[in-house]
Amino acid sequence: MKNIVVLVSGGGTNLQALIDAEKSGLIKGGKITCVISSKDGVYALERAKNNNIPARVIPRREYPDSKSYSEAILNALNEEKADLIVLAGFMTILDECVTKAYAYKIINVHPALIPSFCGEGFYGLKVHEKALEYGVKVSGATIHFVNEEADAGAIILQGTVDVQRDDTPEILQKRIMENVEWKLLPKAASLFCQDKIEIIDGKAYIKD
Ligand code: GAR
Repeated sequence: MKNIVVLVSGGGTNLQALIDAEKSGLIKGGKITCVISSKDGVYALERAKNNNIPARVIPRREYPDSKSYSEAILNALNEEKADLIVLAGFMTILDECVTKAYAYKIINVHPALIPSFCGEGFYGLKVHEKALEYGVKVSGATIHFVNEEADAGAIILQGTVDVQRDDTPEILQKRIMENVEWKLLPKAASLFCQDKIEIIDGKAYIKD
């Protein structure tokens, strides 16, 4: 069984999707063993508690810079013996001390079709605001490995939704979460835990 450590910063609906998938037996070969939050008091921590998953809070605001924060996260991941790290609405960019130590072991869900509307500054509702501002007709979400560059690691899975004429950022966000994020994030975690993702020339492929 692989130890899955989920990193969160907010409401945790993607964490909930992972918990529900695990309960339904949809995450084969893996178990959520710890939740780490970058903020105190967020609802994601309640979700962990309600499901008896050990949780830790490592507050971003208590660290002067990204490097010292990432070192604290790295220590926690090592202590938890993490095999897979899932960034599920984790709003902090991790320094290379983490991404190098856990290369191809960290996956992130991004609420757009990478390489559109991604990179530093594109997170949460802002992504959907920008997509609507641009006038795209489809959007979606991307599950990808995390490397040294924001939102630039190998893409594992992507899914799309149509954008409607009267969408607001909130409505589009909800459609993407329900139709793509909550399905593909558990699916990618399960594929990883079954060693079904292979990397060839820096790109991710699903084994048959
Ligand atoms: C999700 O839409 C996720 O894709 C996004 O934040 C939301 C978190 O929701 N993540 C990012 O923007 C990361 N760059 P949740 O806390 O309910 O899972």
